[in-house]
Amino acid sequence: MLRIAVQTKGRLYDETMSLIAEAGIKLDKGNRMLLVAARNFPAEMLFLRDDDIPPSVANGAADIGIVGENEFVEKGEPARIIKKLGFSKCRLSLAIPKSENYPGLEWFNGKTIATSYPKILKDFLQAHQINADIHVITGSVEISPGIGLSDAIFDIVSSGSTLVTNQLKEVEVVMQSEAILIANPQLSAEKRAILDELLFRFNAVQLAEGKKYVLMNIPTANLQQIIEVLPGMRSPSIMPLAKEGWSSLHAVIDEQRFWEVIGKLKSLGAEGILVVPIEKMIL
Ligand code: PRP
Ligand code: ZN
Repeated sequence: MLRIAVQTKGRLYDETMSLIAEAGIKLDKGNRMLLVAARNFPAEMLFLRDDDIPPSVANGAADIGIVGENEFVEKGEPARIIKKLGFSKCRLSLAIPKSENYPGLEWFNGKTIATSYPKILKDFLQAHQINADIHVITGSVEISPGIGLSDAIFDIVSSGSTLVTNQLKEVEVVMQSEAILIANPQLSAEKRAILDELLFRFNAVQLAEGKKYVLMNIPTANLQQIIEVLPGMRSPSIMPLAKEGWSSLHAVIDEQRFWEVIGKLKSLGAEGILVVPIEKMIL
C-alpha cells in the first residue's frame, strides 16, 4: 500500500485529482475524510495542508506527495524529487507598489518584505547582498503594503491579477515553480514497485497531453507531400480506400501544430479530416 499526500484544497487540488483519475485510480467516496483508499489500486490518499506535505513525506507519514515546488524548496525537507508534473505553474516574485520607481535590487535595502516564503527569500537576498527585513505572514500577503505592514511582498504570482488588484508590480522573478512528485528516500521494494506503476501511468497521461489523433482521406498521389507538411509525425498508417486513388491516413500530431498546417493539407486535397483526443499514450 502506497500512501500519497495531496493538498486538501488550494491551487494544486483540482489538477492533482484529475491526474489521479486519468491514471485510472478510483477513490472511495468519503466526505472530508483525511485518508481515502483507492478502490482499484494499492494506494491511499492522505489529504493535508500543503505546508505539511514535505515534512510528512520526509518522515514517512506519507510515502509520496504531490506538492508545489515552491513549498518543497521552502521547507527544505529531505524528500526526493521524483518528477515534475507540468501543471500549476507559477513563479515566486518580489513585488512593490506600482507607484514606486524601481532602479534595481538595491531598492530593497532597508525595506520590509512580507512573505510566506522566508527561507527562499532570505537565500535570495543573501546571494545578492541585500539587507532587508523579512516579515513572515501566512495569508493575504498581497495586502500588506497597502495597509502599511510592509514596503514590498514576496509571493506566488500566477496570472498576475492579485498584483494588479493590489496596485503592485512584479520587479524580480526569484524562482519558477510547478507541481512536483516527491518521495520518501527509504521506500520498501514493495512500495517502490507501486510507485513505478504509478509513474508509468502518469507518464502515459502526460505524453498524451496536447496530442491528437488525426484521420483524413487523401489523394494517394499527394501522400509524400502531405507527410512532409505534417510536422513531427511518426510513421503514419496509410490504408487504401475503396475509392480508386484515395487513401486514409492516421497519425498522432501536436494539436497546436495542427492549426498551422490545416490550410496546406486542404490545398493538397485532404478531406474528411477528423481530430480525436488521445487519453493515454504508451511508447
Ligand atoms: C497565491 C498568492 C496570490 C495568488 C496569485 O495564493 O498568494 O494570492 O495566488 O495568483 P494570481 O497571480 O493568479 O493572482 P493562493 O491562491 O495559492 O493561496 P494562498 O494565498 O492561500 O497561498
Ligand atoms: Zn494568496
